[in-house]
Amino acid sequence: MQISPPQFAYLRAFLKRVSGVSLDESKQYLVEARLRPVARQRGLADIDALVAALRNTNDAQLVDEVICAMMTHETSFFRDKAPFETLARLIPDLLARRGVMKQLVIWSAACSTGQEPYSLAMLLHERFSSLLSGWRVRIIASDLSQIALGRAREGVYSELETARGLSPAMKAKYFRPLQGRWSVTQSCRSLIEFRQLNLTQPWPTMPACDFILLRNVLLYFDVPTRIAVLERMRRTLRPDGALFLGGAETMLGMDIGYERKIGTGCSYYIPLKR
Ligand SMILES: C[S@@+](CC[C@H](N)C(=O)[O-])C[C@H]1O[C@@H](n2cnc3c(N)ncnc32)[C@H](O)[C@@H]1O
Repeated sequence: MQISPPQFAYLRAFLKRVSGVSLDESKQYLVEARLRPVARQRGLADIDALVAALRNTNDAQLVDEVICAMMTHETSFFRDKAPFETLARLIPDLLARRGVMKQLVIWSAACSTGQEPYSLAMLLHERFSSLLSGWRVRIIASDLSQIALGRAREGVYSELETARGLSPAMKAKYFRPLQGRWSVTQSCRSLIEFRQLNLTQPWPTMPACDFILLRNVLLYFDVPTRIAVLERMRRTLRPDGALFLGGAETMLGMDIGYERKIGTGCSYYIPLKR
């Protein structure tokens, strides 16, 4: 099942238009590997037939299936650890500054299947539950893919998924067994609002955020798209808020109004006064 050059060119342009994701010309094999199961499931003869169907349809489900198949959704609980440790160190001062307002907003942008926002919820419960008593805490979890977001909303994970990043004690405290899998407790779910949001298209109104986690998604965008997203993030962050990127992502060489700070084993970025 190979993809023909014109259909490959169409697919690259389509992905860029709908998600901002830039697919390298050499990634034909990746497209084939990822779209083969979608074509099969839809009963289509080959990948060319799938792309042809995509070209001639308003079927939002098909569009989402293709986008979801083409994206990397890799994630895990407390992925990379250091950003969560750094957040835990920044939160007490921030809470002291918000003492009157008593509202904390954290945005997990590109949350994939939900491990990141649930990790945030667990962190707040574990380390700050008494400090946050009486506060309005909002964790906004967004992703482009409805399929990934559906799984995030469901909040049910396999043995293997929970083994990635969770200690047995955390698992016992924040998960309940459900038909051979593990379901997140209501105490974590209740802090999270799930939204579909495409970072590269106009956003719905977002509340001013204290912290934003924009991790492991910028690397799929070209430089102008990265800059545009980061500039919008700066306007969404509170002036004393902080932004976290993925371990392999950086703002090096981009003059877009952030100052890089060194945290506990990772960097984070604060908006510059302009
Ligand atoms: C590798 S996952 C990152 C998950 C999590 N942030 C982490 O670091 O573990 C990348 C996610 O970005 C999402 N994504 C890709 N393009 C997007 C866009 N334009 N807007 C919003 N989300 C997007 C994908 O659907 C995918 O779930």
